[in-house]
Formats: sequence, structure tokens, C-alpha cells
Amino acid sequence: MKYPESRLRRLRYNKNIRSLVQDVEINISDLIYPIFVCEGNNVKDEIESLKGQYRLSTDNVIEKCEQLIKLGIKSILLFGVSDKKDSNGEIACSSDSIVPITIKAIKERFKYEILIIADLCNCSYTSHGHCGTIIDNDVDNDETLKTLSSQGLTLVKSGADILAPSDMMDGRVQRIRDTLDMNGFEKIPIFPYSVKYASSFYGPFRNAVDSKLEIGDRKTHQMNFKNTNEFIREIEYDINEGCDAIIIKPALAYLDIISKAKENFNIPIIAYNVSGEYAMVKSAAENNQVDEYELTMEILYAIKRAGASAIITYNAEEIAKILSNK
Ligand code: PBG
Repeated sequence: MKYPESRLRRLRYNKNIRSLVQDVEINISDLIYPIFVCEGNNVKDEIESLKGQYRLSTDNVIEKCEQLIKLGIKSILLFGVSDKKDSNGEIACSSDSIVPITIKAIKERFKYEILIIADLCNCSYTSHGHCGTIIDNDVDNDETLKTLSSQGLTLVKSGADILAPSDMMDGRVQRIRDTLDMNGFEKIPIFPYSVKYASSFYGPFRNAVDSKLEIGDRKTHQMNFKNTNEFIREIEYDINEGCDAIIIKPALAYLDIISKAKENFNIPIIAYNVSGEYAMVKSAAENNQVDEYELTMEILYAIKRAGASAIITYNAEEIAKILSNK
């Protein structure tokens, strides 16, 4: 078949035809909203590097959850912004730490109305900003597994529904799985950031949680974006260690990886539309170069089209409003 018998524009002339033949949908329930939890009371502190996003104290997190539930958003991802730090991040293993306290408060108020995914890493809690225990000027893998699994257990005991380890230590899924199972939490899923590149797209986030590194970088544990197939081994290892879904980040510059992961593995994929991706769109919109929400929707559809089942996005609220008004 070819022109003029066939005319591809026939399926595009009318809005209803376009939606009739549309492949990819975004549902509000596919959106996961990241929340930065800080100490104090009635704190709502705009994050300079992430316009429109805030550090919220527990009371304001509760208020935010109420708004999210009204919008139909069903999942949040919690990050701690801790004033208290120590050399190994052990502070986060305490049930008095900021995220466990907040999780308890959310659970008390909303029960299972909203799914609480807890990001699991030491970088918000170490004085040096690294993701774990430093030995010989590097993050020591096996020492870091100790604090990670202990922090994970604390988060789950306080009511976290899902753990999302974002540290990139080898063997962490297995270690966390074993710790949860030994403590009777065999029903709690683990969604590791299986594929996490050492990326400049995280810049605005590090300012948000105050985890800028004074020395060194994260290239000895996060992945090298110059590699094509390394992600396959990362995902295989995590699946073998018992993960339940995987997170891939960043998203936008890594759609090839999302798409290949979808083809190669039968496991739900969650993509993280990270801080730098959000900030680029915001800045371009502020300069009147693009329409912020048209562009954001296009990016989110691209991420879903590549194969993600769900997307972690700082735009979740605006997108939920757009989707529910259509
Ligand atoms: C840290 C963590 C990071 C992000 C999520 N978890 C930053 C990092 O690894 O340096 C990035 C998220 C974003 O940029 O939006 N454990």
C-alpha cells in the first residue's frame, strides 16, 4: 500500500479518531510523587534548585498527602532531609529519625489510602554526603550493607509499604530481603534503583537534600553512562536477589535502556523523571521557550511508551489535574 490509496493522515484529522487509535495512556495511579521530609514544625521551604518543590515538616507532609489523595495520586516516595548527620549514616537507623516519624504519622492518619515508598540510602545522613561508610577514601560496600539493611528495617517497622534502595551497593537487595524476612516482613516489596547512572541530572536534588560531596564522586558505585549493556547484569542480579520491581534513573536520556529492559525482563519498570529533567523544563518555561505542561506530558508519554509502568515525577500534582480535567 502506498499513497494515494493509503493516506496516513486519515487517522489524524479528528481528535476522537486520534484518541481511538492511541496506544499509550497515563493514569493518575501511574504517578509517584517525591516528598522531601525535614525536621521542625510548619516548615514549607521552597527548594531553590527545584522551583515548586518544598522541604516539608511532618505536619505539612500530612497536609500534602491529603491533597494528593484528593487528586487521585496513590503513591509517594519519601526522602529525608536531616539536620543530624554522622560519619556512617547510623542516625537514620533510629526510629526517632525524621522519615520513620513521618511514616508513622502518615500511616496513622491515612492507613492504606496512600502507598509509602521509602527511598533507602545513607547520603542524607552522612556528614560527608557519601552513600555509605568510607574506608580508604571510598564507600565500602559490605560495611554500608549493614547500615542500609538496618535503616531499611527501621523504615518498614515504622510503616513503609515499599523500600527503594538507591545506594548501588552490590548485594543490597539480598541483604535487605534477608533482614526483612528474618523479622517477619516477608510481604514488604523491594523496588531497588537497579539501573542508576552516575548522572549530572541529579544536581538539583543534591541541593534539596544537602548531600553535595566535599570530596570524591559516586562513580565507584553508580553506573557509567558510556556503557550499553551493563544494565542487564544489574537487573539480573537484583531479580536473583529477590526484588519485586525495578527503578531506572534518570529517565529522559535513558529511554533506550528503559525500552531494552522492557524487552529483556518480565518485571515492572518504574522510571524516575529526575530533578535535572524537571529543572530543565521549568527553566525553559520561565524563559517562555516552551509550554511547561505540554512538554512535561510529552516527556512522560515518551517514558511510558519506552516501557515504564509507573513514573516518579515532581510534576505529579499538575499532571493529575490535567488528566482529571480532560
Ligand atoms: C540518593 C538519591 C539521589 C536521587 C534519588 N536518590 C541522588 C544521588 O544519587 O546522588 C536523585 C533524584 C533526583 O535527581 O531527582 N540516594
